[in-house]
Amino acid sequence: MSDTLLGGKIALVTAAGSGIGRESARILAANGAFVMVTDRDAAMAQETAEAIQAAGGLSASSAMDVADEAAVTEVFARVVRERGALNILHNHAGIQIGGALEQIDAGDMRKSYEINVVAQFAACKAALPHMRAQGGGVILNTASNAGVFLDKGMLAYITTKSAVITMTKQIALDYARDGIRVNALCPGWVDTPFNGPYEAQLGGRAALEKVVRDLVPMGRFGRPEEIAEAVLFLCSDRSSFITGHALVVDGGECLAGGSNSSS
Ligand SMILES: NC(=O)c1ccc[n+]([C@@H]2O[C@H](COP(=O)([O-])OP(=O)(O)OC[C@H]3O[C@@H](n4cnc5c(N)ncnc54)[C@H](O)[C@@H]3O)[C@@H](O)[C@H]2O)c1
Repeated sequence: MSDTLLGGKIALVTAAGSGIGRESARILAANGAFVMVTDRDAAMAQETAEAIQAAGGLSASSAMDVADEAAVTEVFARVVRERGALNILHNHAGIQIGGALEQIDAGDMRKSYEINVVAQFAACKAALPHMRAQGGGVILNTASNAGVFLDKGMLAYITTKSAVITMTKQIALDYARDGIRVNALCPGWVDTPFNGPYEAQLGGRAALEKVVRDLVPMGRFGRPEEIAEAVLFLCSDRSSFITGHALVVDGGECLAGGSNSSS
């Protein structure tokens, strides 16, 4: 890896204490960025930052719940104050509440919107004045391949993840002239704790692995490190002419048109 690709850039990743967010923080730092690792769980955020530092990278951590708009605004301002810029924002936090119309209530839909859509909206809004003032920036919003197809029994997740993609495209259109690129990341099944509740519902790891084998043309989970390669591409100048794009990284699952369960 080249530590010059993102040398001098200041990045912030939400939900970077685990899974894909942690690998996003790692790959951005491995390529030269200073990474502010944030997560609702302070200890996990610190663990990620320490792993980056142990590997020779530049990083710090901060507890940050994306649902707390004031905290998000404050952390972004602090990063700019202490580091001089906010060049890259990876909005990764999200939740999955399963169920079709009869199984979920308006509260479940509101909560899904609050984290998956409104919190990303608020983070984009908090980043915008800094990016504009510094002459540009890059925002990556994590959606899901569940944002590009339909999926039985996943009403709140599908609705909110497709909203993330539409919001991403609209912000990209509105701010392209400010030098701000905004793209969406659409992973498929990735082997992280995120799928724990669904694994429990299925009755265990073997059942989950069978679902993934059956649904994914490539026959396996993605690894967080494989998703991180797409993060690096979309957050660096390697994608300098790409904005408003939803990049699906799912081992071909969406080619088969979706499934009756979700990632
Ligand atoms: N793993 C997958 O299969 C998969 C597939 C598609 C999309 N995604 C998306 O990726 C994101 C997370 O997935 P992951 O696999 O990295 O999960 P993960 O379970 O490994 O990590 C989730 C992290 O999010 C943090 N978090 C939860 N709520 C938060 C909040 N309100 N504010 C800040 N941090 C919070 C947790 O503390 C945890 O560290 C979600 O947006 C999800 O929709 C995951």
